[in-house]
Amino acid sequence: MKVDGKPMRTIWVEADGAGCGIIDQTRLPHEFVVAHLKTVEDAAHAIRAMQVRGAPLIGAAAAYAMWLAMRADASDEALERAYALLLATRPTAINLKWALDEMMVALRNRPRAERAAAALARANEIADEDVAINQAIGRHGLKLIEEIAARKNGGGVNVLTHCNAGWLATVDWGTATAPIYMAHDKGLPIHVFADETRPRNQGAALTAWELNHHGVPHTVIPDNTGGHLMQHGMVDLVIVGTDRTTANGDVCNKIGTYLKALAARDNGVPFYVALPSPTIDFTVSDGVMEIPIEQRGAEEVSHISGKTASGRIETVQLTPDGSPVANYAFDVTPARLVTGLITERGVLAANREALAKAFPERAS
Ligand code: MRU
Repeated sequence: MKVDGKPMRTIWVEADGAGCGIIDQTRLPHEFVVAHLKTVEDAAHAIRAMQVRGAPLIGAAAAYAMWLAMRADASDEALERAYALLLATRPTAINLKWALDEMMVALRNRPRAERAAAALARANEIADEDVAINQAIGRHGLKLIEEIAARKNGGGVNVLTHCNAGWLATVDWGTATAPIYMAHDKGLPIHVFADETRPRNQGAALTAWELNHHGVPHTVIPDNTGGHLMQHGMVDLVIVGTDRTTANGDVCNKIGTYLKALAARDNGVPFYVALPSPTIDFTVSDGVMEIPIEQRGAEEVSHISGKTASGRIETVQLTPDGSPVANYAFDVTPARLVTGLITERGVLAANREALAKAFPERAS
């Protein structure tokens, strides 16, 4: 997608080959800063600190991190060490493990002298595959939006989304946003309600930033507003992303997604999940019981950062001194609440049969 008219991805190999460039997402929306990853430790820190985040981008960043590791030391020990270091950075998004396993397949049985070049080649492929997958998701999701637009006889289509499953969460296009960008580019009247998504505000900071840059009409809403909008017929469909979807179609996504799915079901609003296949974890079935839910630092809840009237970025405390807080980063929406999964191979029912039929090579 474009930033100030210039096409960009969220991660790239720098022209001098010194490492990877990333858009530092902890600085958005008020500052656009490129960070430079030169070592596997830099990359592990970037994932842990959420300079890069979003399931598909975490996977791509981990793939490039394996290149950085192999460049420094291509021994078997360094390979295993890099795998373990990166796998421990964030527990919920399965794309991380998927990408690391792909890298191990490409590297494990290769002579040391070839490992760095092979790692870079596979990481580039993973990044390019992510872009192609998201474009395909966009094309399939676009049809859903077109159907609604046709039913509304040219009336605007209102999409509600949660967190940031936009191009910043992927290498390009986004998952939930790919159909939105394609609809907008085609001239369909589309408007997005972006949940602010406490505590890290990925919706208010990141989704709003990228929709703004692309010129997509949108409104940032507090997380609690979605139910009210749905009761008043102001939302035509919900599209969210996912960090891990189980073999039977349970969807783990940013905390608060489940409540949106409940409100959607109660109000007859279609609830779709944009799902790239590397996000499917065929080894787990019951999402509520089996997916590890990341718990992050208390300060993400107790404090908030923003721009002051004089333009300074400041962090202030919201909660009283001494009040304990809880910070569960994800929740699970059971498959029964999901209208459909928008995958690169079409829109599927959220159940074991449909997923296994569409992705037999992953299911077996
Ligand atoms: O904690 P984050 O910001 O990495 O979580 C991201 C989300 O939950 C997104 O909605 C999800 O990864 C889908 S990204 C295409």
